[in-house]
Order: sequence, then C-alpha cells, then structure tokens
Amino acid sequence: MLHRVLIIGVGSIGHRHLRCFQTTNRVQLEICETNQALADDLARQYGVQRVFSSLDDALVDPPDAAVICTPAHLHIPMAHQLANRGVDLLIEKPLSTSIDGIEELQQLITQRELVCAIAYVMRQHPLVESAKQAVHDKRFGSLLQLTVTSGQDFPFYRPAYRETYYAKHTTGGGAIQDAITHMMNSIQWIAGRTTALVCDAAHQQLPGVSVEDTVHVMIRHGAIMGSLTLNQFQSPNETTLQLNFERGSIRYEFHNNKWAFSTEPEAGWLPGGQYKLERDDLFTKQANVFLDCVEQRTTPTCDLHDALHTLHTNLAMLESNQAKQWVHIP
Ligand SMILES: NC(=O)c1ccc[n+]([C@@H]2O[C@H](COP(=O)([O-])OP(=O)(O)OC[C@H]3O[C@@H](n4cnc5c(N)ncnc54)[C@H](O)[C@@H]3O)[C@@H](O)[C@H]2O)c1
Repeated sequence: MLHRVLIIGVGSIGHRHLRCFQTTNRVQLEICETNQALADDLARQYGVQRVFSSLDDALVDPPDAAVICTPAHLHIPMAHQLANRGVDLLIEKPLSTSIDGIEELQQLITQRELVCAIAYVMRQHPLVESAKQAVHDKRFGSLLQLTVTSGQDFPFYRPAYRETYYAKHTTGGGAIQDAITHMMNSIQWIAGRTTALVCDAAHQQLPGVSVEDTVHVMIRHGAIMGSLTLNQFQSPNETTLQLNFERGSIRYEFHNNKWAFSTEPEAGWLPGGQYKLERDDLFTKQANVFLDCVEQRTTPTCDLHDALHTLHTNLAMLESNQAKQWVHIP
C-alpha cells in the first residue's frame, strides 16, 4: 500500500525530498506550499495531484505522514498541528530556533504513538555509520579526541542565500544553526552527548548578510575532547573527521567518501574503505528508513530526543559566542 506523504515547503530541500521520496516507489505525494507558482510547477513535474496553499487546507483530509521543509522557526508549530491530527513526521534540521513547544510536542508524540524523525541526513552516511561502529567496537581502544575540519563556498552552492532563512538567526540562519549543526549531530551519535562547549564565530566574508559564516568550537563529550572548525567561503568543498583512539587514529574524508587508519608513527595512512555516493543517495535512504519506521512503528535514526540535544548545542554555541565563555549543555 502506498503511503500518502505531504511535503510542506518545496523550496530547495523540499524539492529534493519530493524527488527522493518519489524514487522509493512507496508513496503517493502531496504538496503544501505558499508559493503557488512553485507548487504548480513541481506538481506538474512530479505528477502530484493534491496541492495545497496552507496546512489547514491540507489537513482537511490528513495524510499518513508529512515532511516539514519550511524554515526552522515554523517547524514546531507545524509539527503540533500535524501530530494533533495523527500524522507521522519527518522534520528538517535544525529542529527549531528555540526550545519553545518541544516538551509539549514530545508528550503529544508519545500519547499518539507517532513516529517523529529529524532529517539529520548525515546519520545515513556510510562514513558516519562506520565511525560510530569503530567507537563502539573499540578496535583501537577508547576514543580520546576528535577533530572536524569543514568548509565550502556556500554562495556557489546556494546563490540565493541572502533571500532565504539563512540571512537571520530568528529563521534558523547562520553557519551555527544551518551548517555546523550537521557535524555536531553526527558527532553526538558517534561519541555521545556533548557536555560542554566554547564557541568563537564571526561573519568573515559572505556578502549581503551579517550572520556568522565561520565557526570554531571546542567541545567536551565527558572525558572525550574535541574541536570543530567550519567556514562557508573557502573554494575546496571538504569535510574531514579524525578520531584519535588509545592505539590508533581513523580519518574520514567526506569529500572523497573514504576512510583510512594509522597505528604506527611514520607508517602513514592505510586504506580503510571507500564508498560510491551520489548526493541524492543519502536522502533516498533517509526516505526509505523513515517509511520503514512508519510501517514497523520503530524509533528513527534521529528522534526528537536526539535532535533536542543538538538544538541545545546550537543554542549553546550562539550563547557562548556572545559571552565568550564555556557553556554546559543541559
Ligand atoms: N538536510 C539538508 O541538507 C538541508 C539542506 C537545506 C536546507 N535544510 C533545512 O530545510 C529547511 C528549509 O530550507 P530550504 O533551503 O529548503 O528553504 P527554502 O527557502 O528554499 O524553502 C522553504 C519553502 O517553504 C515555503 N514556505 C514557507 N512558509 C510556508 C508555509 N507556512 N506553508 C507552506 N510552505 C511554506 C517557502 O515558500 C519555500 O518554498 C530549513 O530548516 C533548512 O535548515 C536542510
């Protein structure tokens, strides 16, 4: 049986979800979008019959599941409205821009026994899965330290960034809430909860906006030490995660989709594994995993609880950058 899935907001990521959910061949898609011309255009392109210009209209006959792809400050009010009608949820990252309404949403999800997944898509990445396994297996002993180095020319990939949610913190913008949150969420899956952090972030380059485009964070996951750096202006589009264990190191290069390890000084990096990935692959996998949860009523890869922790981390980075002090995560 096909699942009726409503995509809410078919801008940049909503369009991708439309395409990737359709690829699963497990859904009948519906669109909710305030930009009528965009909605009509994509409905024609993907053969979508049911198109709504408001969530109220879409909920007259509620779908089985919904993917919330609007800017972050709208996620929680929309999630409440949908959950009240018994709709399973896939919510785009970041979960929100504040913790308002999240406890009530959690209660509603529990009461109504709904699936609520957050689309931190990197949890579908084979390198992130491999890193989580390496920490769990203790192949090189306990994890002691980790580093993330990441950067890309954001305006090249998102030329309209000035006109989107990215331009303001209140709508989920800036490098903290929009970009580094992905790797932060992945690291929390790999190394456990973040216990404290100190953040230095600034607007260094991107024209037409004043939000931070460069972030440096020192983090603690209990005894594990870590640091992350990210900028949104460098030409090479590269992200590297390095895990340093008691008896060896593993380096994950996301731009090359490969990992390598080293256990002896002067011996260099030995090949670990390599994956062939197209950009849509992770999103199609995420759609299939979400539909599996909907069918089997299982817990998603990133549930509300995990995403709330990452949201606390986002807010702690913003707070620490203002105060220039360490912040402990609740
Ligand atoms: N997982 C990822 O890799 C990834 C990538 C990009 C964006 N995102 C996240 O997805 C969300 C959306 O980002 P985007 O880049 O697609 O933004 P976008 O501005 O391109 O698209 C948002 C769409 O929502 C529509 N919209 C706004 N209010 C609405 C409402 N009340 N009802 C229906 N539609 C409404 C807008 O018209 C627009 O088409 C953000 O939270 C962002 O952080 C995630």
